[in-house]
Amino acid sequence: NKCKCLWLEVIMQTVHLEEPMRPTDVFLITYPKSGTIWMQQILVQIMDAAHPEQAEDATNRNRVPLLESTFLDDPSRERPDPRLFRTHLPPDMLPREVKNKKLKIVYVWRNPKDVLVSFYHFSFSWVFLESPESFETFFQQFLDGDVYMGSWFDHIRDFFSAQDELCIHFVKYEDIGEVVKLCAFLGKDLSDEAINHIVEMSTFENMKTNPKANYKDLVETHVYVKETMRKGVAGDWKNYFTVAQNQRFDRVLKEKMSDLPLSFTWEL
Ligand code: A3P
Repeated sequence: NKCKCLWLEVIMQTVHLEEPMRPTDVFLITYPKSGTIWMQQILVQIMDAAHPEQAEDATNRNRVPLLESTFLDDPSRERPDPRLFRTHLPPDMLPREVKNKKLKIVYVWRNPKDVLVSFYHFSFSWVFLESPESFETFFQQFLDGDVYMGSWFDHIRDFFSAQDELCIHFVKYEDIGEVVKLCAFLGKDLSDEAINHIVEMSTFENMKTNPKANYKDLVETHVYVKETMRKGVAGDWKNYFTVAQNQRFDRVLKEKMSDLPLSFTWEL
């Protein structure tokens, strides 16, 4: 009931809480528009660098398929270890083995004002979503959690609250380029050169022109109307929020999140 999107109802039917997972499975979890495809690119490269013999010639979308989708991506589970999955599901909708086997989760979160703006644009892009009447309409829907995948505030809280039960590594979108800690979490010991290469290949400019990384095929097949690689900066919300909206947002954020240890980066 957290969301009015038909898509979520479809997803709910494809979630298998009892799905057996492998001990080496790694999950990339995000609230939508928080840097999923960026981290996808980083993760596949870390795996390639660690297992060069397995480097694949496939899109990142198929190499890090959506856990809950059986038709958007390659649905095959028969991939060699280590498998990567991406998902937007909250902790209680993940396969139980993620928690029971303490499988590794990389959770990327982004300052919510930029998430809102990115999401606003995405609502005009993905054919499954309703286009908002106005920025203000979408702004209020976001605050109310009345958007695809429900409330940002709940998603963040659910994962921060579940961190003792999960094996989870939090990464801020605004710090995503700091790959060293991520490699340590994943148990991959890469050379400085390999890490620098990964960071270089993951810049906005390089991903925008990399057809394996940039999701442009979804524009070509009319699933998306606009590019996902839109702007890729921290602080774009300043071009959209009025002073009054910003005050409203800050009030809600304080009300809902001030007990969590979140340090936001509002711009760079
Ligand atoms: P903007 O709409 O603000 O540009 P997701 O992958 O979770 O849907 O998130 C999409 C957002 O991540 C978009 O934000 C997109 O531009 C941004 N993004 C994707 N790749 C990026 C990169 N390499 N560097 C910076 N931002 C990136």
